[in-house]
Amino acid sequence: MAFMIWNNNFKVNIKEIDLQHKKLFDMVNDMHDAMKTGTADEILKPILENMLLYCNTHFATEEKYMILYNYPDFIAHKWAHDNLTTKTKQLYEKLKSGETVLSFDLMNFLKDWLNNHILNVDKKMGSFINSKISFL
Ligand SMILES: [Fe+2]
Ligand SMILES: [Fe+2]
Repeated sequence: MAFMIWNNNFKVNIKEIDLQHKKLFDMVNDMHDAMKTGTADEILKPILENMLLYCNTHFATEEKYMILYNYPDFIAHKWAHDNLTTKTKQLYEKLKSGETVLSFDLMNFLKDWLNNHILNVDKKMGSFINSKISFL
């Protein structure tokens, strides 16, 4: 069974963002599969690097929508993105310097963060933007 399972509850109803979230789920699942087959930090490094790059793209997309629609919770939402980016970068730097990162802790951290962020923070943004779009 997949580590992260997508269902319609995660939809924010903005197509571009929903597709990116699905891709993030896939990336976390790929990372989890790689870990199960060895937990080698050498395997983890490029995967985590890709994840960081994709998170940057994804966060920039959401921030673009929030700015475009003048979203009132933009600052708090962006802070959450920046915080995750900083934490993931720190883990990546640890890996690069040869330190062993507790892989399953990392997986659970990413899974919990994504689940909570999408369900509590992104969905609020989605509702707001959809309410604006329906007024146009
Ligand atoms: Fe998101
Ligand atoms: Fe977000």
